[in-house]
Amino acid sequence: MYHFLSVNDVAHLSTLVSQAIAFKANPRKRCHLGEGRRLGMLFLNPSLRTRISTQVAAANLGLETIVFNIDKEGWKLEFEDGAVMNGDTVEHVKDAAPVLGKYFDILAIRTFPSLKNKEEDYSENYIQQFVKYAGIPVVSLESATLHPLQSLADLVTMEEWMLNRNFTHKPKVVLTWAPHVKPLPQCVANSFAQWVNAWGKAEFSITHPEGYELDEKFTNGARIVYDQDEALKDADFIYVKNWSSYHSYGAVLPGDHSSWLLNSSKLQATNNAKVMHCLPVRRNVELSDEILDGPNSLVTEEAGNRVWAAQAVLASILEHLR
Ligand code: CP
Repeated sequence: MYHFLSVNDVAHLSTLVSQAIAFKANPRKRCHLGEGRRLGMLFLNPSLRTRISTQVAAANLGLETIVFNIDKEGWKLEFEDGAVMNGDTVEHVKDAAPVLGKYFDILAIRTFPSLKNKEEDYSENYIQQFVKYAGIPVVSLESATLHPLQSLADLVTMEEWMLNRNFTHKPKVVLTWAPHVKPLPQCVANSFAQWVNAWGKAEFSITHPEGYELDEKFTNGARIVYDQDEALKDADFIYVKNWSSYHSYGAVLPGDHSSWLLNSSKLQATNNAKVMHCLPVRRNVELSDEILDGPNSLVTEEAGNRVWAAQAVLASILEHLR
């Protein structure tokens, strides 16, 4: 692998998942692979899991990391081609990215969508400009529309759960919309749908209130169900996530959707479903205490698996650079 921006950059998905699971069993098994190489991690917004799990993964491979909170510590970047930079932007990405390409062997970047301009967000303009100008492999730590390291960890979590319990049937996986107090990106939901579809091992449904349909480019292949109770019947895994409207771009739609909060009584119709969420989560808004603190929650295991997902991706890129 060279760049890692989506599942489309993965040649053999099942191999990548297996490699992540193998790293979990033996974290230091490729501890010299990254020696003499350096990973730059740029953040345009906050992170707990992505930042630390990727640093741990890099350390396990002998890869040095430098983290730069570019939104707080760097010059304000300009991304518009031909911009007359007489406003508040100080440095063009055309100038900054090649410099970073001289300092690092791999560049990892977290951006976020504006949620105001769909075309601009869905063009992935920010991360694509780093790809264009850095001259080194670029890893998405979450972009405007996708969160591939999260999705790989999600597949690892389900695959491992199934392996350890000798699952014999195709699991029923349900991505359910959840309430939230503010508009959130569609990244995690888009990406989860894209990766589960590519995985091809699940019977996959998405449930949400009408108006929260995601981009079909990512969901195509999933069954869309507007009745959450119906969607949850016999589910083996429930992935909980809020997202703002894609069609009324970035909007939180009017109406009381608080009944979409997942609680223990909704699990009764499932196949004792395991519940996943990428975190951070707003307790008792997005997901109830009783689920998060109960035996069906996989959220901590899932966040732990972020290390092995990142390690598998970095190892694959380092192999390419050898
Ligand atoms: N799930 C996730 O990406 O968490 P952070 O925003 O804390 O990195």
